[in-house]
Formats: sequence, C-alpha cells, structure tokens
Amino acid sequence: MSLSFQRWIDSPSVAVAPSLLAADFSRLGEEIKSVEEAGADFLHLDVMDGNFVPNITFGPMIVAAIAKLARRPLITHLMISDPGKYIENFIRAGSSLISFHFEACRSHHAEVLEGLSSRGCYSGLALNPDTPLRAVEHLLDRIDLLLLMTVFPGFGGQEFIPDVLPKIQEASRLRKSKNYRYVIEVDGGVNLDTAPAVREAGAQILVAGSAVFGSKDYAAVIASLRG
Ligand code: DX5
Ligand code: ZN
Repeated sequence: MSLSFQRWIDSPSVAVAPSLLAADFSRLGEEIKSVEEAGADFLHLDVMDGNFVPNITFGPMIVAAIAKLARRPLITHLMISDPGKYIENFIRAGSSLISFHFEACRSHHAEVLEGLSSRGCYSGLALNPDTPLRAVEHLLDRIDLLLLMTVFPGFGGQEFIPDVLPKIQEASRLRKSKNYRYVIEVDGGVNLDTAPAVREAGAQILVAGSAVFGSKDYAAVIASLRG
C-alpha cells in the first residue's frame, strides 16, 4: 500500500466514524445517507461472531449491502475469532480498511496484516482496554490504523473507560517519535463528555455509535465530537 490511510482524513481536526451498530437497521439506507450528510468521515462497521465476543451482529453480506449505499470509506471492525480466515470475504464486500483484534489470534498477526495489504486493503489492529501497547510493539511499523478500545468489545452503549487515555497518549507519542504511519482510532463510549479527553490524548478518528444515532441532530453531534 503506497498511500497512507491518513489521506482519507482531510479535516485539520479529528475525523468522526459513526458506528452503524446503533443505527435503525430497518431504515439502514436512510441512516447512512443521514450520517454522511451530517458530516461523517467514515462508517464504522462492527462485526461480532458470538465467540470472540458474546454478541452476534452481521457478516460480509450486510457489509456488501452497506458498501452499495455508502459514499464514505468503510472501516470494518472485526470482533471475531480466527480473523485471517474471513478477511478475503470482508475485502470483497467492500471494506476500505479491516481491523482485527490482537487478542483474537494467537500468533500469525503479521501474516494476517500482510494478507490485507497484499490484497490492497488497509490494515488495522484493535486492542482491548487491558492489552498494553508493548504487546504489539513489533507490529506497529506495519499497520495503517491502531484501534484502541475504550470499552470491552461486544456491545454498544457502554461506559467509557478513562484508564485507556494514557495508552492513547503513548500511541500518539510513539507514532511521532518513530514516524509510524498508523492512524489512531478510539472506540467505545465516546460522546460529547468524553470526546475532549480522547482528542486531547491524540486520537485521530473518533468512533461513536449511541452518541450519534441516539441524538436528534446528527450534524450537531458530529461537529461537536470533531471539536
Ligand atoms: C463495541 C463496538 C463499538 C460500539 C460503539 O464492541 O466495537 O464500535 O458499537 O458504540 P458506542 O459509541 O455506543 O459505545
Ligand atoms: Zn467498533
């Protein structure tokens, strides 16, 4: 991959990626159009398998349907066991970037990352709130996005875990000092109250599900999240 994922972020402030998990799926087309018109930079798609996390959402078929409707890049967040087995399907479905959990595969992380880049898909690595940055130090030079979870994955609408803030700061410091290309995305419990600290810590993409879709004015929330 020659161009960095950063090129998708054209605003000088942070980018906002609404998580469709909190959207009204009976009106998915309208919801996508509304958040895009309200200023969403990306769409964040939460794929859960009922194994890596105790919840099931949707698979590549729905991602493909979303890709048909969407005009913004799709960031697919895989919360599934054995992600390497399924990346091909999610790439074909139209994901611009696929992130998988470090905790979801035992070793072969580098192989999965390589599988993504060699197929022309941007690659992201997601970390649970209690996984330290040092666990993935050896992979940081080859990822396009680092997804730091501020809730334990599995459900939308959970409370933000502030203990993750130092990890976001550290990831941001490392990115600058080592000149890594990854973009920092923060996901879980991000709302108008918690967003300022997340931005301050160095996040570049804020994911928000319930804060956006639970509001009456998507544009106002997205603008405030951006800061
Ligand atoms: C949690 C998901 C998040 C979640 C965000 O497992 O990865 O993307 O849907 O939802 P809120 O913003 O409501 O915490
Ligand atoms: Zn997510």
